[in-house]
Amino acid sequence: MSTAKKQYKRITTNTLIEMKANGEKISMLTAYDYTMAKIVDEARIDVILVGDSASNVMAGHETTLPITLDQMIYHASSVVRAIDRALVVVDLPFGTYQSDPKEALRSAIRIMKESGGHTIKVEGGKEVKDSIKRILNAGIPVMGHLGLTPQSIYKFGTYTVRAKEEQEAKQLLEDAKMLEKIGCFAIVLEKIPAKLAQEVAESIKIPVIGIGAGNGVDGQVLVTHDMLGMTHEFNPRFLRRYMNLYEEMTNAFKQYGVDVKNKSFPNAKEQY
Ligand code: KIV
Repeated sequence: MSTAKKQYKRITTNTLIEMKANGEKISMLTAYDYTMAKIVDEARIDVILVGDSASNVMAGHETTLPITLDQMIYHASSVVRAIDRALVVVDLPFGTYQSDPKEALRSAIRIMKESGGHTIKVEGGKEVKDSIKRILNAGIPVMGHLGLTPQSIYKFGTYTVRAKEEQEAKQLLEDAKMLEKIGCFAIVLEKIPAKLAQEVAESIKIPVIGIGAGNGVDGQVLVTHDMLGMTHEFNPRFLRRYMNLYEEMTNAFKQYGVDVKNKSFPNAKEQY
């Protein structure tokens, strides 16, 4: 059997479904600005998530709750300007879709119109079903998000693994099937047991992208700043750090500071 993968010029929601059908794993990373998005896209990562984790990573909030729709649109439009290949998924922020389906649709339309993002992502299962349906009916593709949904952190009370108990696991599986049935094109599963995540992935045809959900799913997502080691206070078991940019950047900044102070920067070649 050949291991050669099809070279996709542009990733669409259909591409992801095709990848799952062909057994090709899907790569997804976050980006919140033009420069980072350009690098991630040129590295041929399939999906770029403009996550509401921007609230933590970019703005320094403790949770994802404070970020606004206007701020998400700003981040997403910066990302969209950088992209040639990846599918751009934009999080609907907390408070913009839970209260009623009409508001959910208005929020999703603003993201699509004002940022140029390709799809949106919504946290939750049956409790947001009507909002998701309304958005889907307007022709906007929706990615679901189940398991540890950070917008509900005050309900959970902790960032520990979700769906370890039978009742919550059963509900999660039902929610995943419901999201597929109403027309979502993919689902993120965050921080749940690997066995359950695999069961979900095997039970539905749409791709399941995991973060802290093991290797039995159809793709993986990480927060880019975490996998690059730019953040260092967040150390969950699922996080693989590919660089230690915190240390490398600190060293570079220190060296620059020294060079300025001792007048070795700029040198003769670095001036006009
Ligand atoms: O906002 C985000 O970065 C996310 C990922 C953790 C999946 O939702």
